[in-house]
Amino acid sequence: MFRTHTCGELRSSHCGNTVTLSGWVQRVRDKGTLIWIDLRDRYGITQLFLEEGKTEPVLIDLARSLGREFVISATGMVTERESKNPNIPTGEIELRVTAMKLLNASKLPPFTIEDKSDGGDELRMKYRYLDLRRNPLKHNLELRHRLALETRKYLDDQKFYEIETPYLIKSTPEGARDFVVPSRMNPGEFYALPQSPQTFKQILMVAGYDRYFQIVRCFRDEDLRADRQPEFTQIDCEMAFVEQEDVLNTFEGLARFLFKQVKGIEVGSFGRMDYATAMKRYGSDKPDIRFGMEFVEINEQAKGKGFGVFDEAELVVGINAQGCSEFTRKQLDALTDFVKKPQIGAKGLVYVRYNTDGSLKSSVDKFYNEHQLKEIAECFGAQPGDLMLILSGNTDLVRKQLCELRLELGNQLGMRDPQVFKPLWVTDFPLLEWNEDAGRYFAMHHPFTSPKIEDVHLLDSDPGKVRANAYDMVINGVEVGGGSIRIHDRGLQKRMFSLLGFSDEEAQNQFGFLLTAFEYGAPPHGGIALGFDRLTALIAGYDSIRDFIAFPKNNSGRDTMIDSPSEIAQHQLDELFLKVTAQKTGQ
Ligand code: AMO
Repeated sequence: MFRTHTCGELRSSHCGNTVTLSGWVQRVRDKGTLIWIDLRDRYGITQLFLEEGKTEPVLIDLARSLGREFVISATGMVTERESKNPNIPTGEIELRVTAMKLLNASKLPPFTIEDKSDGGDELRMKYRYLDLRRNPLKHNLELRHRLALETRKYLDDQKFYEIETPYLIKSTPEGARDFVVPSRMNPGEFYALPQSPQTFKQILMVAGYDRYFQIVRCFRDEDLRADRQPEFTQIDCEMAFVEQEDVLNTFEGLARFLFKQVKGIEVGSFGRMDYATAMKRYGSDKPDIRFGMEFVEINEQAKGKGFGVFDEAELVVGINAQGCSEFTRKQLDALTDFVKKPQIGAKGLVYVRYNTDGSLKSSVDKFYNEHQLKEIAECFGAQPGDLMLILSGNTDLVRKQLCELRLELGNQLGMRDPQVFKPLWVTDFPLLEWNEDAGRYFAMHHPFTSPKIEDVHLLDSDPGKVRANAYDMVINGVEVGGGSIRIHDRGLQKRMFSLLGFSDEEAQNQFGFLLTAFEYGAPPHGGIALGFDRLTALIAGYDSIRDFIAFPKNNSGRDTMIDSPSEIAQHQLDELFLKVTAQKTGQ
């Protein structure tokens, strides 16, 4: 028998029992006649003890030959430790070894298997199985498992069926780039891996399944970031005979249930904010509302005073950093450099200090007298001791820039505590967004999203103004999920495709199956998909999703452990009728 107990299980109540444990050697301490071995498995660490003169000499020799990460099994009596370790649950006991077996040796691992490892990112990815032995990763995957389980419980309780949809589907032009798979049996033809099961879940509604969910892998060939992987997981859902309010309530319920079950936290009811307000107040469709510092627009007060930069700007807008009037020159320069970074792209930053003595001082004193600065301060509701930071320019751009500055200041001032959770629904997204390069509209969410009935009349005259029945779940500035009420009327769906620049033939080619399905009694329906990796990372208090996925890709989309993507053999290419013309650039 390999084990009677796990390495995390034994307590002083087990003293006197003879037990067998198996696991990995965390470390060996050899103090002459006394030897201690820390034995680790998924459940914890237990100390083994051997003593020259009392333990059999072959076991002493074996103990001395063990290296880090060797796999052994050991039998012995549980006894109370002389010096207890209050930091681990098994710290009161140790195992006096009477038998021990080497199950497998290990090479010296390239980094330490400790909570804080000395391994760099690339090394940890290449030896992912070693990295996964570390506690932080183990806790992340345990959390992920719990969340999946609780999600299934909640949705089952709400009468959702978990139904699988295919992974080999059809490439579509909208959205991100597809990953494609050549079909051997259909030369020259390709499947695409789903970016989401969107059309299938809608078809399930037509089929009468009413409430569907799936914890499902999705694939998108897009640029990677900390919160984006080329393959990621969604909690994907769809409901029939619902309005927006029903979807929001059901999934607000799911999120609250998960926080409660897994974190023991009551997050309370979600705030609501429409898209236009979110952009105006926070410069973002996923505002972090853990802190205030809302945008204040000051066109009226700032323009016409001879300061050309403001005069020419479409929007002059700022934030008030409360209690920051004493920021040093160096701090202000650093913030200016921050907004001038090419990724942010502001030309400069104007500040107004409201000194604690009540005087006002700005970086544009030449143009604004104290009275005018006071007027500006009033707009911000500023008090002595505050610091106002102001940007100007094109409305959309300047809002994005100020949003970055606000988040940076929030970080610097410690206002973004990862253990505080402030969820909200952002609603009323525009249906379409104009793409200058392509010279046409794109669906902001996807082409199946329904316009608001009251805006349908604008579809032809002013499509950019049409709002959608679309919503995002946002927590702490993270877009956790997004969804919409769908179009279920064939005519409206066709009209939508044509607005997006599809000819009738293209629409039929790409989405004919859906248009046809809509001819056979499609019920009103809507749904949402939550980013499961993001939700898990967020609940754990992390920005990056990488360590919440067992086998993630690196920033170049590679899995360095299995070394993929990789070339394939000529005979495979031949079988697939593929010819490789791209040359490896050899980075
Ligand atoms: P959407 O494209 O908004 O909607 O995706 C839903 C959620 O999935 C997560 N997400 C990602 N997570 C990690 N890596 C990625 N590359 C990535 N891309 C998206 C986000 C996002 O909010 N079919 C629609 C949903 C619907 O309308 O019901 C959809 O896929 O958290």
